[in-house]
Amino acid sequence: MSTSTTITPSTTAIRQHWVIGNWKMNPSLATAKSLTEKLSENLVKTTSLSRCKLAIAPTTLHMLAIKSILEQASAQIQLVAQDTAITRNTGAFTGDISADLLKEAGIEWVIIGHSERRTIHHEDEKLISQKIRATLDTGLGVIWCVGETLEQREAGQAMNVVTAQIQAHTDILTNIDINKLIIAYEPVWAIGTGRTASPEDAQQMHGSLRQMLTQIRAELNQTSLLYGGSVKSDNAYLLAKCPDIDGALVGGASLDADSFLQIAQAFDIA
Ligand code: PGA
Repeated sequence: MSTSTTITPSTTAIRQHWVIGNWKMNPSLATAKSLTEKLSENLVKTTSLSRCKLAIAPTTLHMLAIKSILEQASAQIQLVAQDTAITRNTGAFTGDISADLLKEAGIEWVIIGHSERRTIHHEDEKLISQKIRATLDTGLGVIWCVGETLEQREAGQAMNVVTAQIQAHTDILTNIDINKLIIAYEPVWAIGTGRTASPEDAQQMHGSLRQMLTQIRAELNQTSLLYGGSVKSDNAYLLAKCPDIDGALVGGASLDADSFLQIAQAFDIA
């Protein structure tokens, strides 16, 4: 890990701040509903966010129930799918859910390339590219995850791995609507382990990512770059101070309404 403490902004542009809860395969329907109710109530009554947008990614099975709670409470929380099919249409794809169907259900964003999909489902860059294209073709936004494993970091390969994950899709990045793109840097060794990247290491990667994107296309300088991997309410403030970190993709801590909203507040005032 880097021991550098110097954090230099790579840009002065103002990007959209986001805090996004990835619930993974976690809450039961009853818990998902009560979590959504608590989030909505706190957001409407006590936690005012001016700069940071909020989104949650429940299991697809619970999406419509959660959507109805959010609508009833008029809570400004967008809905994110945890995955999608390689085609945007309907068709013979057992077990999949296409971007057209997600859109019809009121979902606005899709997480693609999460390390759990890459590892458990062996998703490679070709498949990731198909999913990104299918998602963008429907007009939905992409929350695109990249990140290195512990072995790769220890071998000094972190930057090369992330660069390859981005550069595999230069053709998409050349044409993408920037408002439909969020990139989440999630070092795999930090996901669900309680071991967060230091703000210096995270900033270093985010700064390089922003530079890399800007070289592909100047406008991509404005991309919202989120950090993910054991973000909690007690480390969010330091991460939020890093000039190239625009928010967080939060797993475990998003299952607690208070923690999740505290993280959002950290990125709201940053
Ligand atoms: P975590 O998960 O916050 O539980 O580490 C993050 C993620 O997988 O997006």
